[in-house]
This record gives sequence, structure tokens and C-alpha cells, in this order.
Amino acid sequence: MQSQASPYRVQIWVCVNRRDDGSNACGNKLQMRLKDALKAAVEARGWTGRVRVSHSGCMGLCARGPNVMVQPIGRWFSGVTEADVPTLLDEIAPHVG
Ligand code: FES
Repeated sequence: MQSQASPYRVQIWVCVNRRDDGSNACGNKLQMRLKDALKAAVEARGWTGRVRVSHSGCMGLCARGPNVMVQPIGRWFSGVTEADVPTLLDEIAPHVG
């Protein structure tokens, strides 16, 4: 194993966990569209290589979803929609450099 500094300044985790039993799950709420919108907006801002948008499994706060977690700045966004993408990115912009 090798350990090294992260190649990204900021990593955005979009929960895409799905459940078929009708219970709360971010992925049941079109999260892949949200992830794609975030990726496109990150690219449009010229942040590619500094900001990584990834999808995750359940992050444990399903009732608040759709959830997005941003590390290492420790921000958590809940109830996120595609319309929130510009505001979300504006909030993390100071950490992107
Ligand atoms: S399903 Fe997204 S936090 Fe649990």
C-alpha cells in the first residue's frame, strides 16, 4: 500500500443509494441526474482536476436526502436538487482555489 496526498482539493460525494421497498433513499430521487449536473457545472467552472464528483452508497441520513457531502471541507447538503447546483458550488468555491 502507498499513502499520498489526495490529488483533489475537494471531493463531492452524491448519494445514489436505491431501495426497492419504498423507504427513503437518495437514489430513488434521480440522484444520477444531480451527479451529472454537478459534474457538468464543475467542468464549466474549470475545476476539473481540482474537484472530483463521485457517487456514494448510503451515507446514513436518508430521511434528509437527497444528500451531498463535500470533503475535506466538511459540508453536508440535504434536500439537494439540480436547481441547487450553482449555490452549492458557490459555497465551496473558496476551498477550490
Ligand atoms: S440513501 Fe442517501 S443517505 Fe441513505
